[in-house]
Amino acid sequence: MDDLKLVDVYVDEYLRDESGHTALRSMLNIINATGGKKVRPMVLLLAGRFGPRWPECRERLCKMGAAVEMIHTASLIHDDIVDDSPMRRKRRTVQSKFGKEMAVYAGDFVLSRIVYYLFKEASIEVGMLLAKTVESMCYGEIGQYARLYDTETTIEDYLSNIFGKTASLFVAACAIGAMESGCSEKTSMILRQVGEHIGYLFQLRDDLLNITSSSGREGKPVHCDLINGTYTMPILHALRHPSGGRLREVIHTIGSGTLVLRDIEKMGEEIQDILNSSRGIEFTREIIHNHAQQAKELLETLPKGPVRQGFLDILELLMGD
Ligand code: FPP
Ligand code: MG
Repeated sequence: MDDLKLVDVYVDEYLRDESGHTALRSMLNIINATGGKKVRPMVLLLAGRFGPRWPECRERLCKMGAAVEMIHTASLIHDDIVDDSPMRRKRRTVQSKFGKEMAVYAGDFVLSRIVYYLFKEASIEVGMLLAKTVESMCYGEIGQYARLYDTETTIEDYLSNIFGKTASLFVAACAIGAMESGCSEKTSMILRQVGEHIGYLFQLRDDLLNITSSSGREGKPVHCDLINGTYTMPILHALRHPSGGRLREVIHTIGSGTLVLRDIEKMGEEIQDILNSSRGIEFTREIIHNHAQQAKELLETLPKGPVRQGFLDILELLMGD
């Protein structure tokens, strides 16, 4: 069986309902049906092919890939509560269908199953690493929330937040693959750095698409981050440009909460003009491109072959998405 399919089999097994609660079962059905691209387990499985213990560790890598994917799932369930998101991956979110309380419990349930199965597998090191990763994810979210509607947010603040909320789990995925397959410290370090670049470019692109994608993405309307007070790279860059003063005024008007949809649409055009004159979008694209480039250069130091190509394919997938 394809390893990524085996990851799915373990996710299903780890999230099995044993309680008989109809609500929990229905929520787990939503969670299973809204499965994403599984980029994190993909990265973990590939990292695990660089070590001398592959293929003996193959099955275990799939189990660890399932745990990593479940952390991602739990984090999105909770993120949708915080964002009050009605939709994710073109489907209703757990919070919109079952209410915020139930969604908190569903996220907690997923986390509890991760802890249980990591103990069951006696994965002490992986467990410690993933606990620290969830800690970083919390720091990223707390950092972002603490800076909501703050036009003084620095680019460093933003980068540190996206490291926590997104890149840290990609670093962990690479570290676990390397650890389980017995990679040398040098290879493990290279893989962790590759994971970090992938994580940064992933979040930078996600944030950029919220600005450039005219139809909105994943059910999130265009400029939704800006309207909700999360200032991402193109906006932070524009705020530091001579046209930043005008952008501050626009942000202030949005913050007053007195706008109707038509005003927001008009503002969208003005925001676009400001972003064009400050080159905020090009600047962000350059940073994304630099992360992809650095990841490629690091990968070139690893043995050539299908595994390295697999990483390059992931980069391509993420850059083209
Ligand atoms: C989505 O970002 C959210 C994350 C990448 C991380 C969320 C992390 C937590 C809630 C803390 C950790 C919690 C657990 C349960 C592990 P986004 O809102 O920018 O993207 P979106 O457009 O996909 O919503
Ligand atoms: Mg969100």
